[in-house]
Amino acid sequence: MALRQIRTKDDEILRKVCKEVTNFDNKLAILLDDMYETMTSHDGVGLAAPQVGILKRAVVIDIGEGKLELINPKIISEEGTQTGTEGCLSVPGVWGEVERPNKVVAQAYDRDGKKFTVTGEGLMARAICHEVEHLDGKLFLDRVIKFVE
Ligand code: NI
Repeated sequence: MALRQIRTKDDEILRKVCKEVTNFDNKLAILLDDMYETMTSHDGVGLAAPQVGILKRAVVIDIGEGKLELINPKIISEEGTQTGTEGCLSVPGVWGEVERPNKVVAQAYDRDGKKFTVTGEGLMARAICHEVEHLDGKLFLDRVIKFVE
């Protein structure tokens, strides 16, 4: 495993739409391992591939409940709303209030290409929404209601 450099907010790569993963190969496994190591080394709870300069639809999340990898994720249902403080490893030192669904159901593939469904509530729902938006070139900054000191 290796640490990868995290791209920061003015990097245009963060604004691009990522491509679907089609090869569930060793290269993908290495990318996911590197993303997880990079995320945890920065005390992050989520990281999307474009944040390390790779325009592929791959996400890792760990909000303290174990590692979750989402390949080609799609949010298939949303319920309720929550407003809470959010940050991003690509926007260091900036925090803001963002409204998100309180509960989401997402469909995704694991690193072996097996399809699964995950339900997230609260922080997990927030993390899934935040990371999936990275894959479409969106940053939480676009949604901030109020910046937090
Ligand atoms: Ni982020």
